[in-house]
Amino acid sequence: MAKFLEKHLEDVEFFDLQDNPLPICDGDECYDLPEVLDFREKVKNAKGIIMAIPIYNFNVSSGAKNAVELGGRMLYDKIFGFICAAGGKSSYMSVMSLANSLMIDFRCYIIPKFVYAIKHDFDGEIISNKEIEERLKELGDELIRVSKALN
Ligand SMILES: Cc1cc2nc3c(=O)[nH]c(=O)nc-3n(C[C@H](O)[C@H](O)[C@H](O)COP(=O)(O)O)c2cc1C
Repeated sequence: MAKFLEKHLEDVEFFDLQDNPLPICDGDECYDLPEVLDFREKVKNAKGIIMAIPIYNFNVSSGAKNAVELGGRMLYDKIFGFICAAGGKSSYMSVMSLANSLMIDFRCYIIPKFVYAIKHDFDGEIISNKEIEERLKELGDELIRVSKALN
């Protein structure tokens, strides 16, 4: 879904944790590591951020939470959108604890419409549900609209 959105948007950078693994946050020395410095610089320069997140055990992945810890105060005041990959419909609100933390800890603005896809929305790696594609475009366009208005 993130790859699909990357094609739809201009001036966007896709940061894939699979290609750019980040260390587990220790709240201390990790902040001096080059990959973390680079990640924090990217976060700092971003006008808006869309996180594409898998859902496990009714919550966002540990990798997503770790990225927030590593981003730290660079996240301040950012505009956030969310794309969720889940197994079923019942976990729709799983992203809310992360959204709350971003709002309260870092004063972030959350786009109030998420993209939430389940296994039936895919055929292998391909998005088979056109509605998901439309929602992805809508989320991307909305992130740009709100970012332009607030920056
Ligand atoms: C350990 C584990 C826990 C999961 N917990 C949930 C869950 O609470 N709610 C849900 O809708 N899907 C759950 N799923 C399904 C995943 O959200 C789904 O597989 C999604 O595609 C995640 O990305 P992945 O397939 O790349 O791991 C879980 C999957 C695993 C492996």
